Amino acid sequence: MRVVLAYSGGLDTSVILLLLRERLNAEVITLTLDVGQEDDLDEISHKAERLGAVKHYTIDCKEEFVAKYVLPALKANALYQGKYPLSSALSRPLIGSKLVEIAKKEGADAVAHGCSGKGNDQVRFDLTIKALDPGLKVLAPVRDWGLNRDWEYEYAKSKGIEFKVKFFSVDDNLWGRSIECGILDDPMVEPPEEVFKWTLPPEKAMDKPEYLTITFERGVPVAINDEKLDKVQLIKTLNYIAGRNGVGRIDHIEDRVVGLKSREVYECPAAVTLIEAHKDLEKLVLSKWELMFKSLVDDMWANLVYSGLWIEPLRNDLEAFIENVQRRVSGVVRLKLFKGSITVVGRQSDNSLYDPKLTTYESYTSLAQEYAKGFIELWGLQSVIAFRKLQKMYGALSQ
Ligand code: ARG
Repeated sequence: MRVVLAYSGGLDTSVILLLLRERLNAEVITLTLDVGQEDDLDEISHKAERLGAVKHYTIDCKEEFVAKYVLPALKANALYQGKYPLSSALSRPLIGSKLVEIAKKEGADAVAHGCSGKGNDQVRFDLTIKALDPGLKVLAPVRDWGLNRDWEYEYAKSKGIEFKVKFFSVDDNLWGRSIECGILDDPMVEPPEEVFKWTLPPEKAMDKPEYLTITFERGVPVAINDEKLDKVQLIKTLNYIAGRNGVGRIDHIEDRVVGLKSREVYECPAAVTLIEAHKDLEKLVLSKWELMFKSLVDDMWANLVYSGLWIEPLRNDLEAFIENVQRRVSGVVRLKLFKGSITVVGRQSDNSLYDPKLTTYESYTSLAQEYAKGFIELWGLQSVIAFRKLQKMYGALSQ
């Protein structure tokens, strides 16, 4: 049997590598995608070979990750349950698709991942793989063989491999870091400073605000402070700038696909900054009705992607609408970052629908105010009639 394993170099997937060889007598090919995580990829590759992988692939997917997953999420202002920028969720369908690609190339019978039976990631991997190649077997040993970390430590030790005990489960990529488990399982405990790597504690950030501008073209960020940057570099830069101002820490209670509630901690400085800026620019250039509808579309997009349904055709349908309106989302947004807070303080676009000459209360206004009176008459007509009727029927109290 030949198996392609999504390998992170951590305890779970290292033990899986050994077990696949031992229990299934499998030839294991390991695959690590570079989606901007902070790991040492050479070390991971050597580790895989030391543990008996017949071949190891490291694939740099940073650009693909940004182009096909992160930017669509930004255009959809994607925040699951209003908070989580979907950083981990976005990488899973990409990893799933590369597993399938390498499995085809290597003539493998199965692919394997290190997800447990309690989380969302298993759903995301399994469904992506099933959709792309229904004939491929998906092995999830942690879930299917009931492995746990205590047993894994002992087993690894018995094989002469020592792992440092980790107190948190961390997953990171360009779009953010997620931190789970350990003392964070108590939702009343404030996350200790040690869980954060990309953000300064807001109280220790600079004592004066940092201003910056972000330029968007058709919904895509292209420059910071007028300096054009490629997308990967732009996101990295923003992680750094927003992070040093303590921006991007998230701590919330999340509803998993599998029915559980969980306490989740993230730091996503670039994601939080870009979504805030993008949303604001949309408000300048899209009509009120487009904005109302788009917030429903955005919410649905985030729900589908969180729930492992990247392959659902509705996602593409939603994106057709999102892409169509992004044609006008070009312009500049000015932001103020200060001790953990982010405030939009300016926005400008050639496609702006805002016209100060019309809106102002100053005397040079060009709006014919006498029209307003008649408009109000008709605008509220039905509501006024209904109110008066109900008042007659039930009295003033029921209103
Ligand atoms: N709760 C987040 C999600 O479902 C984070 C998952 C992080 N995964 C991990 N293996 N630590 O997307």
